[in-house]
Amino acid sequence: MKNIFFVEEKKTWLKCLSKYVKPGKIVEFGCGSGFVLEVLSMDFADSIIVGVDKSMERLEKVVEKGLKNVILVKADITQNIFPDGTFDTALFVGSLHEVFSETFIKIGRDSP
Ligand SMILES: C[S@@+](CC[C@H](N)C(=O)[O-])C[C@H]1O[C@@H](n2cnc3c(N)ncnc32)[C@H](O)[C@@H]1O
Repeated sequence: MKNIFFVEEKKTWLKCLSKYVKPGKIVEFGCGSGFVLEVLSMDFADSIIVGVDKSMERLEKVVEKGLKNVILVKADITQNIFPDGTFDTALFVGSLHEVFSETFIKIGRDSP
């Protein structure tokens, strides 16, 4: 029950976020299993949407959704994999905290 509420709530605020998305070429860094890509794919049917994630398992879940205007890239989002100006809009939804957690763990591990 709690999960259904969360999904509906997330869809609602994603609709608000959509107002700030410029159609064309859109990228979501850390797309996971495609919750956001699904909403973008519907709201921006004429755009090219790229989802980037390091987890093949999650990307395979996106493939199962059969989103027509979505291209997937398996990559580390801390690396500069696209040239500047490739996208009209770049989104990070629930992914940056994971990047920073990993960075702090690495710094902690590598420091004397
Ligand atoms: C909490 S999920 C969010 C998924 C999706 N954006 C959503 O809101 O439903 C965070 C995702 O970021 C990805 N991620 C974390 N660090 C990453 C990195 N360095 N490179 C690529 N993906 C990363 C994880 O694999 C995970 O799928």
